[in-house]
Amino acid sequence: MSDPLYNSRKQYQRSILLESDAAGNPFDQFRVWLDEAEADGIPDFNAFTLSTIGPSGYPHSRIVLLRTFDRDGLVFFTNYESRKASELAHSDKVCMNFFWNSLERQVRIYGVARKVADSESEAYFRSRPRENQIAAWASPQSREVRTREELDEAVARVTKEFEGTDVPRPPYWGGYRIIPHYFEFWQGRPSRLHDRLVYKVDSDFEWFLFRLAP
Ligand SMILES: Cc1cc2nc3c(=O)[nH]c(=O)nc-3n(C[C@H](O)[C@H](O)[C@H](O)COP(=O)(O)O)c2cc1C
Repeated sequence: MSDPLYNSRKQYQRSILLESDAAGNPFDQFRVWLDEAEADGIPDFNAFTLSTIGPSGYPHSRIVLLRTFDRDGLVFFTNYESRKASELAHSDKVCMNFFWNSLERQVRIYGVARKVADSESEAYFRSRPRENQIAAWASPQSREVRTREELDEAVARVTKEFEGTDVPRPPYWGGYRIIPHYFEFWQGRPSRLHDRLVYKVDSDFEWFLFRLAP
C-alpha cells in the first residue's frame, strides 16, 4: 500500500530520559522540558490539550494555553460560560496533554481544576492586548452564532462601548488552576522503545517515580 498514513514512520532519537537524569519532583522536570520547548522555537510551546468530562460521559478535548505554573498547579484562562466550564462544573477531573513534536516529547498530567482567585484573573486580563479583551466581551464562547457578521458586529459594538476607557474584565471570564497528582514524561526512542517516567503522589503527598513500558 502506498498510503502515507499507512507507511509514514519516524525513528525517535533526539534524546533519552533516564531515572538518573529526572528531577526530584515533576514541577522541576516540567520546567526543564517547557524551557527546552521554548528554546527549540516550538510555536505555541505552552499549548496543551485539555480533556474534560461532560454529563454525557464523553470526554471533550480542546487546545488551551498554559499561562503560569508552580507547585500549586497549572493555570489557563477561559470563559466561565464555555462548554469546558460547564463540564468542569460537572466534573473537576481533567487530563492535560502537551506534545512537543520536534523534541519527540509528550507530557500527560491528571489533576483537578479549581477557579483561580478573581484577583489573579483580573491581573492576567489586564495584561492581555486590548483586542483580546474586547473579544472576551463580544464572543459568547461555545454558543451558536448565526453568522460571522453577527460576531463582527458584536466586536464593533463593544469597541464603541469602551472607547476611551479601559476594557473591564467580563464577570464570566477567568482562570482555572489544575492541581496535579500525576505527571507522565514521554521521550521518544528508536524502535518504539520509548522512555516513560511517571511521578505520582503517595498518601503522604510525596512524589514517587516509576517507569512504564512503552
Ligand atoms: C493554539 C490554541 C490556543 C488556544 N488557547 C485557548 C485558551 O487559552 N483559552 C481558551 O478558552 N481557548 C483557547 N483556544 C480555543 C479552544 O481550543 C476552544 O476552541 C475554546 O476554548 C472553546 O472550547 P469549549 O467549547 O470546549 O469550551 C485555543 C485554541 C488553539 C488552537
